[in-house]
Formats: sequence, structure tokens, C-alpha cells
Amino acid sequence: MKILVIGGGGREHALVWRLKQSPLVEKIWCAPGNGGIAAEAECVAIDAGDVAAAVALAEKIQPDLTVVGPELPLVNGLTDAFRKRNWAIVGPSKKAAQLEGSKIFSKEFLTRHKIPTAKMYGTYKSARAANAALSKVDWPVVIKADGLCAGKGVFLAPDAEAAKDFIARVMEKKELGSGGNRILLEETLEGDELSFIILTDGKSYAPLVPTRDHKRVSDGNAGPNTGGMGAYSTDDLLPEELRKIVIANIVEPTLRGLAADGIPYQGFLYIGLMLTKSGPQVLEFNCRLGDPETQAIVARMNFDLAEVLKDVADGKLDAAKLRWKAGASVCVVLASGGYPGKFESEKRIEGLTALAQNSSVKILHAGTKREGEVVVTNGGRVLGVTASGSSLNATVSTAYKAITKIRFEGMHYRKDIGAHGTRLQAAGD
Ligand code: AMP
Ligand code: GLY
Repeated sequence: MKILVIGGGGREHALVWRLKQSPLVEKIWCAPGNGGIAAEAECVAIDAGDVAAAVALAEKIQPDLTVVGPELPLVNGLTDAFRKRNWAIVGPSKKAAQLEGSKIFSKEFLTRHKIPTAKMYGTYKSARAANAALSKVDWPVVIKADGLCAGKGVFLAPDAEAAKDFIARVMEKKELGSGGNRILLEETLEGDELSFIILTDGKSYAPLVPTRDHKRVSDGNAGPNTGGMGAYSTDDLLPEELRKIVIANIVEPTLRGLAADGIPYQGFLYIGLMLTKSGPQVLEFNCRLGDPETQAIVARMNFDLAEVLKDVADGKLDAAKLRWKAGASVCVVLASGGYPGKFESEKRIEGLTALAQNSSVKILHAGTKREGEVVVTNGGRVLGVTASGSSLNATVSTAYKAITKIRFEGMHYRKDIGAHGTRLQAAGD
């Protein structure tokens, strides 16, 4: 098989790494790719959100399968363009991608199909209407911009002053572009978050192993939100009883709801959950794999990803083919100085060559680029140090030990990825 992967972050490096291990795979292209992917696939410099450029590329290289990483090409209709030409592709249609592309669409979907989610106060087209609604909410309140905002569209407002400030920035100053044309206000949920991702061909589905992301920039979940500073996976993140509830109350009603609404869904569906005292509730849908969740998921895969993804594209997913390593996996993200704010780039990364020999960790690249023999930083999230092992404790230690070998100016990372899980395991919870 010749495979084209769209995207250029840590998630796409994880996919390329895993796909390359398949005996079925002859060649991989990645568009645009990054400095790490370049060592394992042929990178083609196109803009990942550019549908016409991806079509032109596929016309030229004729892949047997295309796998889409990020949301932007999906929301822009990449899969529709490929399917119209009968090209095999994994990813939802433009219409189905609205589950991520519009938070109002997704909230209305959840409400219509009675799937547990935070109560919505209302949706607003102007700052004046949104501000007026603040007198009727409980605090803190969650404010969500409707459209894609690169992870910056959700704000947990402690009081009316902070809420009005965010509303003004999003709706009047348009700091998040057209993504902020409409907003919604919803109730704040409390609990632990869990990323539950399924793979579906529109008829059957297979859950991937559960993961937990760490969204805040600093240890102990302090500081501003980021794209994700690290993730881990163990089976006991989702005990059997809870898993049954998630499947019965959330996954199956979602798939039935999509069918009832005439929205066939094929590809990965990321269900962001809050495990509240009164049960799991949906925080958000994403129409794709998570980043850095994918790095932790791929590290536990014990099946041929290329074969399974081709099955999905052909509409014959066999859930029994998805087998997983027992134990744990973890991915710790190393970020650039300043991230998630304005960050520095072009910093030389040291230590990668020595770690390439280490078989217990895989360094998955995100914001990097190659300049001859040198790899330099080229993004906010730079590297994902990924390990798997028999226990979460041991796996976390393996990853952090590897990190001591890597250096670049301004590098920062969380020291507590997986710590919540190891604490729960130690307490026997
Ligand atoms: P989203 O883009 O919808 O995933 O939101 C980003 C993050 O905001 C989530 O991962 C949560 O940490 C937080 N969040 C979103 N909705 C809520 C809510 N209703 N209550 C509490 N936190 C939320
Ligand atoms: N790590 C969160 C996301 O991919 O949306």
C-alpha cells in the first residue's frame, strides 16, 4: 500500500511511525510533515487545510489510502473531495465534521439525542445579548466560541468581569476570527477528564484505549490552556462498569443519532468526557484523533494499523482486529519557551541522535524542522517523548529519564504527566 497522511504534528508522526511498521506498506507521504516525519516518510510542503492542494497531490502520487490527522481539512471538505473521486480515505465528511467545527451544532445534537452534557444557557450572536444573559448564570460559567479557534475558544469565567472581557475579545475585537461570530454559555462540570476515541466505518465501531490529556501548561493543572502537554493511557482509566455506561449512554446514542440525522460518520470520533459525580458527560466532540492522545494510543497498538484503516475506508471494519498491549503508555510534550503564548523558534535541539538508539522510548516530533543534519524547533509543542511499559509508574520514569538527555533553549514541560493515575493506583482506587 502507498499511504498519504495529511498533517504535520506529533499525532501525524505517531501515525506514520505505526503505519511504517506494517508489512503491507510500501511507501508513505506526509503533507506537510515535520523534521521527525522526514526521516520516515516523504514530506510534501502543502498547507494541511488546503483541499485543492491535497487533491492535486493525490492526483500525482495516487495513494491507495489517505489518512487525515487535523480538523481543518475535514471541516474544509477534504474527504468529500476524495470520495467524489472514489479515492480511499479515512475521515468524516464536511457535514459530519461539524460536530467539531461548530460547538452550537454539536450542543444541539447532544441535546436532541438526550446524550448527557453540560446544560446550555443559550447561544448568542452579539456581545450585548451574551452580556445580558450573564445575569442568569451560575458561576463559574463556561463560554465557548462556536467555530474552530485552535484550542483558544473555551474560557471558564470566574465572574462577570472576566466573562465580559472574554466576550469582548471574541465577539467585538474578533481575536479568534470568524470562529467567534457566535458563542454559547454553559454550566461548568467538575470531575476528571477522559478522552474516549472510537474508530468507525459508519456501521461498526471499535473503541481505542482510553487516554487522559493534560491541557494546562503547568504542573497541578495550573496556568493557561494549551493544545495538550502530555497524555497517558492505562486500562484502569476507564473501569469496566464505567465503560459500559459510556458505551450505553454516550457512544451508542451518538452513533444512532448521527444515523437518524442522516449524517454518515466514518473515521475517528473523539469524545471528550467529564467523569462527574453523577456520571460521564460529553464536554466536546472532535472529528479526529487527539494530539497528544494519539501518541499514547499508538504506543499501545498491537495490530496492523494500515490494514485496519484500509478496512475502514472500504466499509468493513472488524473491531476484533484492534488488539492492545496491556500495561501503560505515556507521552510527555516538550514545549518552546513562551508557549502557549508567543513562543521562540529555530532553536537547535540536542540529544536526539543518542536517544534514537533507545528502544524503550520513541521521540515523536511536532514543531520541528530539519536544516541539513540539524533539527531545530518550529512550533509551540516541539517533541512528544513517548514510552510504553508494563506499569504506569515504570513507563512514566522511562519517559522522564529520556527527557534528561534532550535540550533546547527555552524548553519546558510538565513534570507530572500521569501522576494523577499513579496516585490513584497507589491508593488502590
Ligand atoms: P473543548 O474545546 O470543548 O474541549 O474545551 C476545552 C477544555 O475546556 C476541556 O477540555 C475542558 O477542560 C474545559 N471545558 C469545556 N467545557 C467545560 C464544561 N462544561 N465544564 C468544565 N470544563 C469545561
Ligand atoms: N488534546 C486535545 C485535542 O487533541 O483536542
